Amino acid sequence: IPHPLGQESLGRGEFHHYMLKEMYEQPEIVLKEGTRPIVIPEALKDSSHITLVGCGSAFYAAWCGKYYLEQLAQRIVTLELASEFHYRNPMVQPGVTIAVSQSGETADTLKAIQYMEQKGQYTIGMVNMPYSSISRYVQYELLTRAGPEIGVASTKAFTAQLLCLLKISLTLMKEGEKKQHVLKGLQQLPMDMQKIFFKASQLQDIAQHLVHAKGIIYLGRGISYPIALEGALKISELSYIHGQGFAAGELKHGPLALIDGLTPVVVVAPMDQFFEKTVSNIYEVCAREGKVFVITDEAGATQLAGVPVQDIFVYPSPKAWELHPFLSVLSLQLIAYYTALHKGCSIDQPRNLAKSVTVE
Ligand code: G6P
Repeated sequence: IPHPLGQESLGRGEFHHYMLKEMYEQPEIVLKEGTRPIVIPEALKDSSHITLVGCGSAFYAAWCGKYYLEQLAQRIVTLELASEFHYRNPMVQPGVTIAVSQSGETADTLKAIQYMEQKGQYTIGMVNMPYSSISRYVQYELLTRAGPEIGVASTKAFTAQLLCLLKISLTLMKEGEKKQHVLKGLQQLPMDMQKIFFKASQLQDIAQHLVHAKGIIYLGRGISYPIALEGALKISELSYIHGQGFAAGELKHGPLALIDGLTPVVVVAPMDQFFEKTVSNIYEVCAREGKVFVITDEAGATQLAGVPVQDIFVYPSPKAWELHPFLSVLSLQLIAYYTALHKGCSIDQPRNLAKSVTVE
């Protein structure tokens, strides 16, 4: 499969689908944007409380951002689903609200930011489309610079949002070894992402196993939880197979009842502080004849020898836990793409969906 044709190019080029092209552009986006300095407003620097709002994939990117901002920047972070938020008339503490939106046109996200502005919050729009409605409304615009995204299911815009949220968190983080470590890891990340494409045939094999499933369960812990949710959303959008994500720790509070030999379970299990706990969940699923597909890194894979899973996809180990989502989500995007391809679905324009939802 050829390399990206340049992110500003609007055509599909040699790619069969815009989605495939846009997934291929991700390493290049991380390469370019990873090192570009980010300028954030003073209000964000000074605020101890940050609210993140969004819908769909943007909401899951924001969810990952909550982990970054809490862990790296030591901020208090509230995460809100825009489509629910403004109808609640919630009480609001002083602080900053960041609306995360690829299009900048999502009606619910715009409503949420308008509500927050009326409540006296400082508003920031993290958008991919400059001059969009959210851009024009907010006090400060942060561009994610993924280039135009044509495929309805978000891929590169999601990754660019992750990166932007990580960069904000690093900017707010105090100087030190840990910060340098993540920054160093970011330099290596595009190459590690690129390596996933070299192994895409293994993701196609996993997709072959998923294609006849009626439902697929996705599990993850920590920052891999919103990534599991994004993986489930991607498979639902693209292949019309019901994907549902759960926090791995919630397995025994209900989802275990769903485990049988017919419902594949995709587990996002990077080698991080949660790895052992996630592996114990894998055992719980295997013991009930569940077919497990693990997405992990090299360090995690070495610990999985002898675990009776169906298949393991292994991506290069990044330097820091903060970087796993870039690699695991790309793997999940490709699985969803190939599953939809096997099923002959309309990949760039899934049934019933729109790229931007401008009605509430
Ligand atoms: C639609 C798209 C999704 C997207 C969501 C939020 O549902 O199909 O891919 O994640 O809107 O869009 P936004 O433009 O606000 O990021």
